[in-house]
Amino acid sequence: MKRTAVRPTGIERTFADHEIIVTKTDMKGLLTYANDVFLRLSVFDEEEVIGKPHNIIRHPDMPRVVFKLLWDTLREGREIFAYVVNMASDGAEYWVLAHVTPSRDASGRIVGYHSSRRRPDRSAVNAVKELYARLRAEESRHRSPSEGLDASWRMLQDELAARGRTYEEFVFDLTLGAAGTTPATSSPSSLSPGSAPKDGRPNAGPAHAPRTGATNRKPIKIVRNVTSGRNA
Ligand SMILES: Cc1cc2nc3c(=O)[nH]c(=O)nc-3n(C[C@H](O)[C@H](O)[C@H](O)COP(=O)(O)O)c2cc1C
Repeated sequence: MKRTAVRPTGIERTFADHEIIVTKTDMKGLLTYANDVFLRLSVFDEEEVIGKPHNIIRHPDMPRVVFKLLWDTLREGREIFAYVVNMASDGAEYWVLAHVTPSRDASGRIVGYHSSRRRPDRSAVNAVKELYARLRAEESRHRSPSEGLDASWRMLQDELAARGRTYEEFVFDLTLGAAGTTPATSSPSSLSPGSAPKDGRPNAGPAHAPRTGATNRKPIKIVRNVTSGRNA
């Protein structure tokens, strides 16, 4: 199916709690590996995606600023957790909680990137949807794309500062169902893109989130470096 012809249908697709969507890319974000779960949800054959840019599943509702944060963080050699809505080749959408990380060779040099995605909690998706809609609106309100991106970057920083969270901490909170209720623990000055948590935690994911003290939802366990499947 030709990507340019695809429009979002608004139909949402989900996947099972035990499933993990895995893709790998080279340094430019060109797909080098996609597992069966990715192909099934995105409605692609493997040969249609390998060598293609990862934005073949980009959903127009995704704010550009989230991908800026993703790429800035990866290029600094760090991992990132992010909520993302993707669009399949038939226009359906699926939400994920993604863990994206650099892949390194034996000498520690970054040779590509790796993403593992779990099914997110519905209440987290609702909270993120609302924030992303406002970021998108801000991006399209400006004359030039770069002005729009700058403005949504500021908006994201302000939103996070109001919550006293980094984006990473915001994601942790949502994963626990604690968004908006957790007391602020870090200052707005920690809101540089993908900045490390101030409490000295390692740059880990939602699996570590119980340390924040919120208990009303089991954290989603992110499985790292999944190697099952073709070319893995
Ligand atoms: C490992 C990895 C996984 C990615 N996963 C996604 C994804 O699931 N959905 C998506 O839209 N972009 C994903 N991206 C980001 C895309 O490369 C791209 O930046 C994004 O789709 C925005 O595209 P655009 O710049 O054409 O708007 C991923 C990038 C990397 C390196």
